[in-house]
Amino acid sequence: NTAGWSPVRVVDLPMPTFDPIRTRLPARMLRNEFELKAPVRRAIAYVSGVGVHELSLNGQRVGDAVLAPNLSNYDARVYYQTHDVSQHLQAGLNAIGVHLGNGRYFSPRHYIPGTRTFGYPKLLLQLEVEFQDGTRQTILSDETWKITSDGPIRLNNEYDGEEYDARMELTGWNRPNFSDTSWKSVELVPAPSGRLSAHGNEPIRIIQELKPVKISQPRPGTYVFDMGQNMVGWCQLHVSGPQGTRIQLRHSETLRDNGMLYTDNLRSARATDTYVLSGTGNESYHPRFTYHGFRYVELTGFPGTPTLSTIAGQVVHDALDEHADFTTSNELLNRIHKNVLWGTKGNYRSIPTDCPQRDERQGWLGDRSAESKGETFLFNVGAFYGKWIADIEDSQSKKGAVDDVAPDYWNFYSDNVTWPATFILVAAAMHEQYGDCRIIQDHYPAMKRWIDHMTTYLKDDLMPRDQYGDWCVPPESLTLIRSRDPKRQTAAEVLGTTYFFHLLGLMSRFATIAGSPNDKKEFDSLASRMNAAFNAKYFHPDTNTYSNGSQTSSILPLAFGMVPESHKQGVANALAQNIREKTNSHIGTGLIGTQWMMRTLSSNGYSDLAYTIAAQKTYPSWGYMISRGATTIWELWNGDTADPTMNSRNHLMLVGGLITWFYENLAGIRTDPDSPGFKHSIIQPTVVGDLRFVRASHDSPHGKITTAWEFASNRFSLNLSVPVNTTATVYVPAKNAQGVRESGRKVRHSAGVRFSRMEKGAAVYEVGSGNYAFTSLL
Ligand code: BGC
Repeated sequence: NTAGWSPVRVVDLPMPTFDPIRTRLPARMLRNEFELKAPVRRAIAYVSGVGVHELSLNGQRVGDAVLAPNLSNYDARVYYQTHDVSQHLQAGLNAIGVHLGNGRYFSPRHYIPGTRTFGYPKLLLQLEVEFQDGTRQTILSDETWKITSDGPIRLNNEYDGEEYDARMELTGWNRPNFSDTSWKSVELVPAPSGRLSAHGNEPIRIIQELKPVKISQPRPGTYVFDMGQNMVGWCQLHVSGPQGTRIQLRHSETLRDNGMLYTDNLRSARATDTYVLSGTGNESYHPRFTYHGFRYVELTGFPGTPTLSTIAGQVVHDALDEHADFTTSNELLNRIHKNVLWGTKGNYRSIPTDCPQRDERQGWLGDRSAESKGETFLFNVGAFYGKWIADIEDSQSKKGAVDDVAPDYWNFYSDNVTWPATFILVAAAMHEQYGDCRIIQDHYPAMKRWIDHMTTYLKDDLMPRDQYGDWCVPPESLTLIRSRDPKRQTAAEVLGTTYFFHLLGLMSRFATIAGSPNDKKEFDSLASRMNAAFNAKYFHPDTNTYSNGSQTSSILPLAFGMVPESHKQGVANALAQNIREKTNSHIGTGLIGTQWMMRTLSSNGYSDLAYTIAAQKTYPSWGYMISRGATTIWELWNGDTADPTMNSRNHLMLVGGLITWFYENLAGIRTDPDSPGFKHSIIQPTVVGDLRFVRASHDSPHGKITTAWEFASNRFSLNLSVPVNTTATVYVPAKNAQGVRESGRKVRHSAGVRFSRMEKGAAVYEVGSGNYAFTSLL
């Protein structure tokens, strides 16, 4: 709701003080005082301070959001936050204060070609006050405000950190009767051209505090704290000492052999916070307008000897409901799940970032393609991804191209298929998991524009456009970032064509949801022509392989239903053989193949092989990362040995479809795509390998679905809970239906349970809501 805004009242203070490499700008402080003639009934503040802001009234901070507002392409959209500030105001004189940082509005880097920066930070604020007698008053960010950049935050840069000089604190600046005569008058400037939009997604908050687990002193006066976890946020520092003492906190993900920080993989990001003591006693500080991805913190300049209580790690991310709940008898799988959970939360920054530590932190589309569906099992990401889809549409060019990063802070309009595909894949995942049609309805025209634009590249019904390949396959040498071996790579046209085919299928479904049924035929007929052209050119029926025989070149046609029916099992068998023989039942895929591999193996009868891959401890595997001390998921399978120039220790792209497979296949909790949002669930647990039990739950839009299964000798048991107003089809692994019991009785005596059929080693039942305890013999 943007009614009543006056978009020209934006205040700004130009101050050109940045070095050509890293932008340096002190935070601005803006203030105003105003009289309220009577007691307040209700007051609402609408505030948009870009890049990042913190609002206070009468000396008190308003709300607990940090790094607000949402990131966006400010030329297309500017977010504001709304606060109920009734409790903060009083009759008589009041003061309002806003701290304004750079965020991505005044970009942390101006030198990278194609980097977008928008100008100096700006503020737009409107305070609507309703008095007890029903009359109203509006306070606006207008020309009566004052501004200074002589406050304590001397530098704020998301990559480089914050410098805070406590000697420069302006005590009382956000209270009435503060003398601001040395402050400048604000300048009214044109608003950013983006549409003002309300924050519809959760704000970013400090969610959790971690205590360091260890301190070491690799050099005299240099202390290194180990937080025990690769985390994202910042440190709260507690210190007392002489005025002017300068303390530095540097952050890194790993250490060198000599115990000092290893920061090569941060590239140009300094990730350094500096605090200068005021000397007034016990001081405590955490930065406001930066954040870091780190496990280790180096403290220098500390007066005295620090203890484990000197710093605390504050974990900062979007305040999404977390409901990750997945435990198995295999400790390694539990640990992988935990690492993914930490990596996922650390990369929520009102957009899904690629990584939180180096000079990047962009919303790279490809990283979240099918992976995003798995996130729905960990957090409630409905509103979050709805917002990001809008960022993607905001990046769309006039001719329909979509940037590979959203918001489009970097110019990567490469017109490939696999990265922008996320626009459609995420919308499909949100529809499937939450039953959310609105994202599709709102963005369908833009999606269609992109499809139409890409269609112009088709040659003989094949799609040659690709940019990144099967990004980050395990390379032939342990020090390489990207493989140069053509056998490990999947051909551009294979990636482009299979993905485009799959997207056309989704668009065909979307056409109905969006009320454009006529488009459906067009998508369907193009898809079937592409399928035919693809099989004609790339399928080798004699060997049941595609193209050069890479694993990904078989995974994609299997996952998307492109393989001729009579060859489906043959292609799956050949893929399994390839995985066993060529990569020794280890990962042989990169970003693209890994998104689909696990579920594709399971749905073609190879759950055992999928489990073997998931449970590997040797290179390359998720377990290998853990054996090398990882507490998140790496960007590279060979992250511990590869070149540092592109080597983050907290990326999500290689998670691929793993989390979805954990919940959908191992725990067996899946929505029926024809009854999305778990209105009807498919409960189909997989007994596999040496797994003895799996316990999981999912907070669906209709309520919590729980499965807990156990398997010992030949006995299987499944405790299941199905939420009210929903139904489920349950697959109980069993030799035959006669041996199946529910709550100890024959199933036919169980209310609400109806036997349907035997299918592939399972007795299948239709059930209504309720709790069930199935047992069977295998
Ligand atoms: C990012 C990736 C991204 C890739 C694409 C990298 O620098 O960190 O996650 O998808 O570039 O080129």
